[in-house]
Amino acid sequence: MSFVLEASHLRKQFGGLVAVADVSLRVREGSLHSIIGPNGAGKTTLFNLLSGALKPTTGRVVLRGRDITGLPPYRMAHLGIGRSYQITNIFPNLTVLENVRLAAQAMGHDNWKFWRAASAFQEYEARAREIIERVGLQDKMRAPANTLAHGDKRKLELEILLAQDPEVLLLDEPTAGMASEQVPELMKLIAEIRARGNKTIVLVEHNMDIVMNVSDEITVMHLGNVLAEGTAKEIAANQVVQKAYLGELYN
Ligand SMILES: Nc1ncnc2c1ncn2[C@@H]1O[C@H](COP(=O)(O)OP(=O)(O)OP(=O)(O)O)[C@@H](O)[C@H]1O
Ligand SMILES: [Mg+2]
Repeated sequence: MSFVLEASHLRKQFGGLVAVADVSLRVREGSLHSIIGPNGAGKTTLFNLLSGALKPTTGRVVLRGRDITGLPPYRMAHLGIGRSYQITNIFPNLTVLENVRLAAQAMGHDNWKFWRAASAFQEYEARAREIIERVGLQDKMRAPANTLAHGDKRKLELEILLAQDPEVLLLDEPTAGMASEQVPELMKLIAEIRARGNKTIVLVEHNMDIVMNVSDEITVMHLGNVLAEGTAKEIAANQVVQKAYLGELYN
């Protein structure tokens, strides 16, 4: 089994504040790998380092054996690391369909090939429709993005991400702010994406029921470090993790 994404000894300091102290992590191809840990543990900062939004103070990020440390986000995205940026990636005045189609187009490499513009447009639009139907929102395709309810915006973010067709999806609390009845649907979808087998998912999620159900592998972060890693079973049984984190959540 091979590792698609590897972080070694990543560290990120903001002045005197150490957000990520020393994180090494290996993500297996095709797996769903969750990162858990209390607020402020450094999970989002780690995602920022993995996606190029931030350059690490020290340490390396390796994608399929290639050192991609410090590359800008658009280069990371073209190499196959996709990250949902919450809201900011959405064009508010464009419709759901236009937003998803543009995301597909942006990754298409052929924006300047005018002679095939018409057929390419059809292709991208068809891809966008297929993704929208898979994730939901098919009855809102023509709705401007800024008219969507919060939970639907989270779905649109996921659709935009899928349209970019990344090999590795970094999902930072995809269920945050969703109405609780929408959560199982989203998780089913994430499980489906995983089951298709050609994507690797790295998930940050606070809901332990979800994490314990869907993860192949879990890395527990605490104060910018890796506290433990293992399968859901191993993590649930880990005394150190229970003391530091799980116990406090289930109390
Ligand atoms: N741009 C920044 N400048 C300064 N400090 C930052 C910055 N980003 C994050 N931090 C700090 O780094 C630490 C880790 O934050 P981070 O957002 O990575 O945690 P997290 O594990 O994602 O937490 P949460 O579960 O609340 O989302 C926190 O103390 C945070 O205040
Ligand atoms: Mg966070």
